[in-house]
Amino acid sequence: GHYKTRAAEASSEELGVEKYLQLFQLSPEMLQEVSARLRKDLLRGLGKHSHHKAPVKMLPTFVRATPDGTEKGDFLALDLGGTNFRVLHVRVEEEAQKVLKMDSQICAIPQEMMLGTGEQNLKGKTLPLGFTFSFPCEQLEIDKSILIRWTKGFNCSGVEGKDVVQLLKEAIHRRGDYDIGSVAMVNDTVGTMMSCGYRDQSCEIGMIIGTGTNACYMEEMKNVKRIEGADGRMCINTEWGGFGDDGSLDDILTEFDVEVDKTSINPGQKLETDKIVRLVLVKMTKDKLLFKGQISETLGTPGQFETKFISEIEDGLENAKKILTELGLDWDPVDACVVRLVCDTISSRSARLCAAALATLVNRIRNNRKLDHLKTTVGVDGTVYRKHPTSKLQKAVRLLAPQCDITFLVSEDGSGKGAAMVTAVAQRLAHQFPV
Ligand code: GLC
Repeated sequence: GHYKTRAAEASSEELGVEKYLQLFQLSPEMLQEVSARLRKDLLRGLGKHSHHKAPVKMLPTFVRATPDGTEKGDFLALDLGGTNFRVLHVRVEEEAQKVLKMDSQICAIPQEMMLGTGEQNLKGKTLPLGFTFSFPCEQLEIDKSILIRWTKGFNCSGVEGKDVVQLLKEAIHRRGDYDIGSVAMVNDTVGTMMSCGYRDQSCEIGMIIGTGTNACYMEEMKNVKRIEGADGRMCINTEWGGFGDDGSLDDILTEFDVEVDKTSINPGQKLETDKIVRLVLVKMTKDKLLFKGQISETLGTPGQFETKFISEIEDGLENAKKILTELGLDWDPVDACVVRLVCDTISSRSARLCAAALATLVNRIRNNRKLDHLKTTVGVDGTVYRKHPTSKLQKAVRLLAPQCDITFLVSEDGSGKGAAMVTAVAQRLAHQFPV
């Protein structure tokens, strides 16, 4: 009698766990479907009339070429991304094919934005400035860029709807000690693509998986209907974080995704994997599937379950146990296994969704160029990408884009060096094709 009850209990427990995990599983067919939906959304975003209401914004960047390796010179770069604000002096060296960081200053962003002092030795010189601003902007020119809305927890008043380059120029002018020359404003995805592009000239996609997730790629001008001109290419900042904002992914989202989105400062940014994992663990505990039904204070508090815990827990059972202890949980070995399974399942889903999105872009580039086979490089950056094993993502992309041969290149300081690269390429083009 006793044994039977235990067995019955165990299997109902297993069933309970299984039920949760299933919510997050995405079949290959479903991933194809997600990719097909994004494919349609890319077109909506590019369309002359449809782009106003498109969830995937497909923002023109006015970056018309990737590096060809002949760029050179000294540049200043500013980088306002997620957690820090940086000022850099960057040198592009043609001989060595290198983008060098000569000097840089970092400031953590407090409640109010700060502006670094740059370098003493640059006083009096006017260098072209690249400004990485990693938020969705309606760009009207390379140096005219209107913030559509804040993302990633930013919410400074009086900036949405304004030209950020103008605000920057005014702020520098107020300081009164530095003259800025030309300004090129870029998204971090663009910076990432451009910085990798100097090393590898087949790099035509930039992807960030970090505080937010996003990608840019080189699109044919004739498809960018809302901008005059049909020749050549232009880099498009997809802002794919908006994918699903119109409900197009509702059938795959779980109650946990919906909950996380509701409590987010900037709703609509998906894949906040850490928050989702925490909610699932809390709910499973309440269902008595974990920790004998006892939630610790740390696990019960939003924000205490860090992103890095996920990869650490996935890394091995011993790590998982250590973190559960740190979280003040009374765990048994089965708990540790289940938590690992939860982390693995949910982070795999994030990786596969990113893969589906990336596959959509590479397939689009291949179709644009009417190629049977495309060999291309993706420049990547972002804390989540760097801290996570990337094999899941790469495997899933290969499955979804079998006719594309993709190299992943982790960008070294893309947002900083890339911004300089954009100005360098703009200078080269101005030189080659003077108006
Ligand atoms: C957010 C921003 C986007 C940026 C991404 C990565 O999604 O909206 O502009 O590229 O985060 O930092």
